[in-house]
Amino acid sequence: MTDSYDLVVIGSGPGGYIAAIRAAQLGMKVACVEKYTRLGGTCLNVGCIPSKALLQSSEKFEEANHTLASHGVKLSGVSLDLETLLARKDKVVADITKGVEFLFRKNKVTWVQGTGKILGAGKVEVALTAGGSQTIETKAILIATGSDVMPLPGVEVDENQIVSSTGAIAIPKVPKHLVVIGGGYIGLELGSVWRRLGSEVTVVEFLDRITPGLDLEVGKQLNRQLSKQGIQFKLSTKVTGAKKTKSGVTLTLEPAAGGAAEELKADVVLVSIGRRPYTEGLGLAEAGVALDDKKRVKVDGHFQTNVPGIYAIGDVIAGPMLAHKAEEEGVVFAEILAGQKPHLNYDAIPAVVYTWPEVASVGKTEEEVKASGVEYKVGKFPFLANGRAKANGDTEGFVKFIADAKTDRVLGCHIIGPDAGTMIAECALAMEFGASSEDIGRTCHAHPTLNEAVKEAALAVAGQALNM
Ligand code: FAD
Ligand code: NAI
Repeated sequence: MTDSYDLVVIGSGPGGYIAAIRAAQLGMKVACVEKYTRLGGTCLNVGCIPSKALLQSSEKFEEANHTLASHGVKLSGVSLDLETLLARKDKVVADITKGVEFLFRKNKVTWVQGTGKILGAGKVEVALTAGGSQTIETKAILIATGSDVMPLPGVEVDENQIVSSTGAIAIPKVPKHLVVIGGGYIGLELGSVWRRLGSEVTVVEFLDRITPGLDLEVGKQLNRQLSKQGIQFKLSTKVTGAKKTKSGVTLTLEPAAGGAAEELKADVVLVSIGRRPYTEGLGLAEAGVALDDKKRVKVDGHFQTNVPGIYAIGDVIAGPMLAHKAEEEGVVFAEILAGQKPHLNYDAIPAVVYTWPEVASVGKTEEEVKASGVEYKVGKFPFLANGRAKANGDTEGFVKFIADAKTDRVLGCHIIGPDAGTMIAECALAMEFGASSEDIGRTCHAHPTLNEAVKEAALAVAGQALNM
């Protein structure tokens, strides 16, 4: 049986499903091929959404145990019901992925359940989940197959004693000692979850700092905060092997620069050293689709690969592996395909680490600006001097603006503090409009709000902060 479409999207993550919906809104006949039993990709099923559900629940447990008493709310007999906590997370995932099915029906996007393989421009073969296969003819093909866990040789993931993020969002018993390999987004977020739930957590990081892509000052502050909370860090350290026993895993560690080895025992090990583009079984080589040096699908400014009619977006191409980046690319791709002329500003894509305090950033780090040779000014404001943060009892962290010394245009904004992830939207919007720090400093912000710290940090660029 052969069906024919304007667009076939392979993969239903935030890149693929959003591209499919936008293309359908623009009048195209669209099919989305997804091999998993649910729509939504990594983000909705095993990534952003379940990890945030666990961060939220574990934060409530932490509050009940440690912070509510300082607000005069006394609790006794606080205990953890891990089964309910995990079941809640599963329900959130089930509901939100059903939501994507609803959106597909509403927009008349056909979900072809199975594994897609590109036979060449205009032809996709699907090994159907229900059995058999189907060939689809289409004017355009969009590869949105996302990414997968980066393996660490010698530390094989079994999703039981040695887990990836997928296993780490479903550990059935709080591990006594969780060792996290890699101090990036996943390690710090999921490390925080299990630390709050009662695990001793050790993070082993190859570099001499955590969160390598972030502004250094902010990264250092995050390291201090998480250490204060009890997470232990072994920086400049590499894992050279893992031995599994019935009771746990013994890791062999060595200084990154070489030196004497030591052993570290863990009940569970989380491998979170990054993700790699997922292109397995897609038939790219046969179809002649070129990859770049990091095995990502190579595209031009219009998301087209070297084969006309075959496009790619999201984690499988270059750029930050973030859900909102994939979504924006999905929208822009569909609009280009429809003949429109949209633009995506890669300089204004925010990034958030959902620890507590949260870390959020947009634009360039101070190190990047310094390296570019542009003269710049920095404005900083601490949450300790913000009325709402004080009222909330959440005063850790600061807002930092970096602005061009000559034009005052905002080049970057970095926030570590309560709800930083929500606050960064204002800075992304400002950068999208090419704002100066003065523009933000002169914008009236409601009082008392955490966002007043953003205004004050912008004022601080010219040395005009009012409450400091
Ligand atoms: P994916 O979401 O990976 O979707 C790809 C889909 O393609 C999958 O469903 C897969 O089954 C399907 N597929 C692959 N090959 C085929 C085939 N041949 N045929 C049919 N289907 C196929 N990002 C954020 O911005 N914020 C966060 O808070 C955040 N938290 C995260 C937490 C974790 C634990 C992880 C692992 C990731 C997190 N991310 C987060 C990253 C985010 O999940 C990804 O950037 C995003 O999912 C990428 O979207 P995508 O559409 O490119 O691909
Ligand atoms: P990451 O790239 O964020 O961090 C990996 C860390 O591991 C780095 O600090 C790196 O230096 C370190 N590392 C690499 N090799 C190592 C080794 N052999 N031994 C010890 N440390 C090593 O990758 P992570 O945490 O796996 O997450 C993957 C991606 O998923 C992120 O880059 C991000 O794009 C996305 N993500 C986004 C989230 C968010 O937006 N809040 C949350 C979770 C994931």
